[in-house]
Amino acid sequence: MCGIVGYIGDKQALPIVIKGLERLEYRGYDSAGILIYDQRKKEVYFEKQPGRIKNLTRVIDPDTPGTLGIGHTRWATHGQVNKANAHPHYDCQKKIFVVHNGIIENFREIKSSLIQRGHKFSSETDTEVFPHLLEELIKEGLSYEQAIIQSLKKIRGSFAFLIFNKDYPDMIVAARLSSPLILGLGDKEFILASDQTAIGLITNKIVYLNDGDIVFVNKNKYEIKSFLSEDTKNYEGIIDFSSAETEKGRFQNYMIKEIFDEPKAVEDTLRGRLLIEEGDVKLGGLDRVASRLKEIDNILITGCGTAFYAAKLAEYFFEEYAQISTKAEIASELRYKMPVVSEKTLLISVSQSGETADTLAVIKNFKTKGILTIGITNVVGSSIARLVDAGIYSHAGPELAVASTKAFLAQTVDLILLMIYLARQRKINVGEAKEILTELDQIHKKIQETIVDNDQKADSLAEKYLFAKDFLYIGRKYNFPIALEGSLKLKEISYVHAEGLASGEIKHGPIALIEEGFPTIIIAPQDSVYEKTISNLEEIKARKGKIIVITTKGNKSLEKLADDVIYIPETLELLSPLLSIVPLHLFAYYFAKKLGRDVDRPRNLAKSVTVE
Ligand code: M6R
Repeated sequence: MCGIVGYIGDKQALPIVIKGLERLEYRGYDSAGILIYDQRKKEVYFEKQPGRIKNLTRVIDPDTPGTLGIGHTRWATHGQVNKANAHPHYDCQKKIFVVHNGIIENFREIKSSLIQRGHKFSSETDTEVFPHLLEELIKEGLSYEQAIIQSLKKIRGSFAFLIFNKDYPDMIVAARLSSPLILGLGDKEFILASDQTAIGLITNKIVYLNDGDIVFVNKNKYEIKSFLSEDTKNYEGIIDFSSAETEKGRFQNYMIKEIFDEPKAVEDTLRGRLLIEEGDVKLGGLDRVASRLKEIDNILITGCGTAFYAAKLAEYFFEEYAQISTKAEIASELRYKMPVVSEKTLLISVSQSGETADTLAVIKNFKTKGILTIGITNVVGSSIARLVDAGIYSHAGPELAVASTKAFLAQTVDLILLMIYLARQRKINVGEAKEILTELDQIHKKIQETIVDNDQKADSLAEKYLFAKDFLYIGRKYNFPIALEGSLKLKEISYVHAEGLASGEIKHGPIALIEEGFPTIIIAPQDSVYEKTISNLEEIKARKGKIIVITTKGNKSLEKLADDVIYIPETLELLSPLLSIVPLHLFAYYFAKKLGRDVDRPRNLAKSVTVE
């Protein structure tokens, strides 16, 4: 939700800030704005525009000079999408400029007291109170630093701020609480940004800022203080992906590139973790909690959207193989529930970005109860990765399309590895584990085969079913979460209604939707529930619904029953979701593209949901 970037150094700031915003555009694309400070003329230049960054660049002189700049790409929370509400926001004298990611929950009361003191506001946003508050406190006699600290203490909510003050023209001040912000350390230059993809423009050396940190940055040095505690220790790191991984390369969109990256995401996530001969896995991130994990007798697993569907899959895996009672709960619900927990409960949180507000809130909440927490995240050093007691990274590489694809496969692989780890501590024998690990080791090749076999097919099926306004997706057991994930993908990027269901549920209501031509996608690999799923297929066929079925290669028996058949390679039942999801990602992509949708940046959405 919103991306912010700031640069200070010897180089021209404008191209760096714009490029940084382009890399962060996945976080929000309702409007964009920048500020550049020209030290020689002592002039501020700022511009903002509704819509995408390209709208902004159209109206900016590309030669605008200045070696300090801040920028913002917005996902609207307070106030409509228009120029006035775009960032940066400023005080009455246009001296203090601010870009903000997050929400100021008590902005209304602060705003009305500032209005009573004569401040004039020019937007409907929550953010605008911040520069006015700073202005007011400075007017009351506080130093700039104290005014920032006191302003931060007065606001409630979440924020990552970049602040520029014309009276301190050699400095950007940044602050964060519950919204991501990273400092990149270049050679006599610094970059601040919401995530590593923008930082990578000038350096791979990073400092993760903690909640409560305020950073004073000029081109020669930076200083971190905290408005929450005296003692702030910052974790330094190195960006672990190449700049090329953030480019589209030969692909038209990030989403299709990331689908084609699925085999690699899985291979990279497995690398160095399989101990096939021992029938075991090596998960270094769990070493420090290994003995506590042996004592666990119940698991809560949480996440949002696609990450939740990976969690839902794990609910089946953990109960069946590790025999641990497991419940998957949506994070936005779990944070307000009162689940029964004990010292033997484990909380597992799944999140690609590692920044999702609801998921973070659940972890914080459970930590206060002393519950052991594990994170499955894709972004090294993200808030979730730093908050949990232990973790497993899913090495999918940067995922930039709003629709999550390769991260889902990598998360699922991590959860299978964790299942083996827990099962080996308990029930599963070496032989059983070895069988799973041997197949897992090769699964990336079958994912690749699934893409090659189905890319064209998905494209032509999208064309054939482009008339449809609604879809049902159904699957049983492991392929029920796949029905959920497949339908989410279609609706979020095509804006066509799609509903994912457990196959057995259709006769409890949804089958009433079926009429001649209504399309249902049925996920039916030849597994332990195949016969049952095929009965559901027959029920739909009897009502003249259109049927697209996903089944195992070599199973020709469905060609007469279904309108269209998609084949996936044979694999272990447990691993079939890693294959069955692939054609559904492809289908959603081609369907949305044919409808002319902006597949990478679907309307109303943002990649990283850092507000509640
Ligand atoms: O970064 P996270 O994995 O925590 O994000 C969770 C969801 O916001 C995310 O999966 C969302 O549902 C995607 N747009 C789905 O494609």
